[in-house]
Amino acid sequence: MIKKQNNAFILTTQHTSYVFHVLPSGQLEHLYYGKKADCSQQAVEALYEKNEFLKGNMVSYSQDYNSLGLEDMCLEMSAYGKGDIREPFIEVTHFDGSRTSDFLYADYEIKDGKSSCDTLPVSYGTEEDVQELKIVLRDRCYDLELHLVYNVFASCDVITRRSVLINTSEQEVTVNRLLSNQLDLDDCEYTCSLFTGAWAREMNRRDMPVRQGKIVNSSVTGTSSNRANPFVMLWENNASEDAGNCYGMNLIYSGNHYEVFEVNGYGKTRFVSGINPNVFQFQLGQGEVFEAPEAVMTFSDKGFNDMSQHMHQFIRNHVVRGYWKDKERPVLLNSWEAAYFKFDEGKLLSMAKNAKKAGIELFVMDDGWFGERNDDKSSLGDWYANKKKLPNGLFGLAKKINDLGLDFGLWVEPEMVNEKSRLYEEHPDWVIRIPDVPHSEGRNQMILDLSRVEVQDYIIHAMTEVFSSANISYVKWDMNRIFSDYFSGGLSAGRQAELGHRYVMGLYRVMKQLTETFPKILFEGCCAGGNRFDLGILCYMPQIWTSDNTDALCRANIQTGYSYGYPMSVLSAHVSGCPNHQTLRNTSIETRFNVACFGILGYECNINDLSKDEYDAMVEQIALYKEMRSWLFRSHYYRIKNGKDTDYTKGVYQWIAVSEDKEHALGLYLQSQVLPNYAYGKFTAKGLDDEKMYRFTNRFIQYNVKEFGDLINTVTPVHIKKDSIVHNTVAKFVKMDGETEDYVVSGSLLNNAGVKLKQGFCACGYNNNVRFFQDSASRVYRMEHVEVE
Ligand code: DGJ
Repeated sequence: MIKKQNNAFILTTQHTSYVFHVLPSGQLEHLYYGKKADCSQQAVEALYEKNEFLKGNMVSYSQDYNSLGLEDMCLEMSAYGKGDIREPFIEVTHFDGSRTSDFLYADYEIKDGKSSCDTLPVSYGTEEDVQELKIVLRDRCYDLELHLVYNVFASCDVITRRSVLINTSEQEVTVNRLLSNQLDLDDCEYTCSLFTGAWAREMNRRDMPVRQGKIVNSSVTGTSSNRANPFVMLWENNASEDAGNCYGMNLIYSGNHYEVFEVNGYGKTRFVSGINPNVFQFQLGQGEVFEAPEAVMTFSDKGFNDMSQHMHQFIRNHVVRGYWKDKERPVLLNSWEAAYFKFDEGKLLSMAKNAKKAGIELFVMDDGWFGERNDDKSSLGDWYANKKKLPNGLFGLAKKINDLGLDFGLWVEPEMVNEKSRLYEEHPDWVIRIPDVPHSEGRNQMILDLSRVEVQDYIIHAMTEVFSSANISYVKWDMNRIFSDYFSGGLSAGRQAELGHRYVMGLYRVMKQLTETFPKILFEGCCAGGNRFDLGILCYMPQIWTSDNTDALCRANIQTGYSYGYPMSVLSAHVSGCPNHQTLRNTSIETRFNVACFGILGYECNINDLSKDEYDAMVEQIALYKEMRSWLFRSHYYRIKNGKDTDYTKGVYQWIAVSEDKEHALGLYLQSQVLPNYAYGKFTAKGLDDEKMYRFTNRFIQYNVKEFGDLINTVTPVHIKKDSIVHNTVAKFVKMDGETEDYVVSGSLLNNAGVKLKQGFCACGYNNNVRFFQDSASRVYRMEHVEVE
C-alpha cells in the first residue's frame, strides 16, 4: 500500500514499511525501511532527523536552511555538488561544464498497477498486486526533471525503484551516472554479503563488515558477470539464516553494474546500485529521456532464508513470464560434455535413442553444428547446418529426434563472430573493436556491436531463420566472452562511453523480439555458465545455465550461493560424466542427481558409455524427478546447512524444498568430506506444517561392493584381489543394501527436533543399518503428508 500523509510517503508491504518525507528545503529525507511499523502522523515526525546547528565543518545546504548539511542526512536521492560527499545517485555535466545538481521535490502520483519502461525490461504485476508511486523532482538551477518510480509488491515484501531523467532544457547534458537505488540507513555496523567468483566458480558468498569507507561490488565485463553478481545483502550483525534483520538487493540489468556500501564520518550507511558509472556516460539532447534499470529490494527481520523467500516469490511471479512461466520443464540430455565438437547425426541419434528409453524428454544439440565449426576457432556468425555432420540439416535431424518421441533443442551464440566466418568477411565493421588498431579476443571470438540497429536486425533475422527452419522446442542462448576494445563504428567520438549500455538495450530488443516471435520455445540463458545470471535475462528467458561447473560438490556451493537471491526454478542443473570434466573429481551418480534435482534437471554425458549401474540409476532418477517436479518446481526452498565447516563436519549442505501446500518435501544431506570415527547424522527440516504428519523416507540404494575396496576380504571365505576378475565378477552380481529410514512423524518434530539418521560408516563394521557415507556422499529424503488415525 502507498499512502501520502502530509509531507510523508509511506510504502507498506505485508511485513515491512518504507517511509520518507519532503523536507522544507525540498529534498527527500529517507526515514525508515524495516519491519512494519505504525506510521501515524506523530510517529512520522518522530522519525525526522533533528538538526538545530550545522555539525563540524560540513557545508550548509543554503542560507535559508543553514542547519541542513546534506553530508549527514539520510536521503532518497543524492546529487553531486551540494555538500553530500558520499556516493551520489546522479551526476551530470551541464552545458556550462558544471557538475552540480540540486533536485527538489515538485510533484507526485500514486496509481494501482505498474508503468512500463521503453528501453529496459522491468518487473510486472496487475492492478491488484502492485502499486506505483512516482515522485517528480526538478533541478533548482538547470532544466532537468528526475522521476523516482517506486513499485510496491505487498504480498512478497518487495519494493522496486527506478529513475528516469528528462532533459527539459534546450542544451545537451552529459549523464555521468544515473543510479537506480539509494538506501540510506541512519546507523552502521552492518555486514554486507557479495556473491563473487569466476568462471566455473560462481556465487561464493563473501561477508564483509561495512565500516567508514566503501565496499564496491561491480562489473566491467560488459555482462552482469560471474565475478560479482548484482544480488547483494546487507545485514545486522546478529542475523543468521533464520533470525535477524537483513536486506536483499538486486538489479534488473545484464550489463556493467555497481553496488556500493558506504559509511560516512557520522556513522550513517549508504547503499547505492545501478549502471556502473565508471564505464559509462550518456549524452542527453533536448527533450530526451534516460531510463535507469529497475532495482529490487526486500527486508526481513527473520534472517536470510525469509529474505530469500521474498526474492524467490518475486522472481517467480513478477520477473519470469510467458508461456513457460509456470510450466514444468522437460528433462533434457545435452550433447556438450557428451561429445563437445565431435559428433555427427548418427552419434546424436544413437544417444537420443538411449535417452528416450531412459525417460529423457528433450534432446539438445550444443555447440558445433553450424558452419565449419570443429573447434572454437571458427564459424560463429554462420548459422547454417554443417552438412558433413548433419547431412539432413536441422530439419532432418529434428524430425528424426521427434520421431524417437523426443523434443529437439539447439545451442546458439548469436552475439558473437569469429574472424574465420563468412559473416566477418561480409561485415568486418560490425564488431566491437577500434578500427585499424590491434584488438583482443576471448575464446577466439569478437562481439557483434549490438548498439547498432542493423546488427540487431541481422541477429533477429538470422535467428528467426534458424528457429523456424525445424521443429525447435528449446534454445540455449550462449555468450562466451567478456568485453574489450570498447568502440562502436556507429557512435561518434563523444558517445563512445554509451556503448556498454546501448549494447544491453540492443540485446534486450533482440531478445524481446525473438522470444515474442517464438513464445513456445523454451529459452535458456547462458554465458559461459553464470557470467550473465541476472534478472534482466530472466525477463526474457525463464531459466539460466547456472555454471559450466557440473561437479556435484562445487555445484552444491554454487547453487547455495544462487539460492540467496534466486529461486531454484530458474537454475538449470545437469548430471554429468565422471570423473568430472572441470575438477576430475569422482562423485557418485546419486550425489550428482541429488544436487541437480533441486534445479531444473538435465543430463550432460555420453549416455551410451554409462555403465549398466549408472544407466539404471539414471532411469530411476528421472522417474523420481518426474513424479516430484510438479510441486518441486514451485516449492519453497530453505537452506539448513550451507557448507560451512565445523569441528565435526566438513562441507555439509542440507537443503529442503517444501511444496506450496506443505504436502510434500524433499531434503538434501550432502557431506563434502568424511570425518573418521564420526557416525552421527541428523536431518532437521524447515518450513513443514507443524500440525501435519509426514512419512520421512530415504531412497533405497544398493552399493557396488567395489566401493569397499579390499575390505571385501573381511567377509569373504577366500581372498579376493582388488580389481581382479573375481572382484569384478562378484561386483556384477552382489550388491550391498544401503540403509532404510522410515518414520511417520509430525511436522513439528521434523522442524524442531529433526530425525536422527542411521549411524554413518565409521570403520567399525557395515550392515544395512549403516549409512554408507564417504567423501561427497549424499542422500535425498522425502517427506510426504500422511493421515494418521
Ligand atoms: C559455454 C557453455 O556454458 C557450455 O555449456 C557450452 O554450451 C559451451 N559454451 C559451448 O561452446
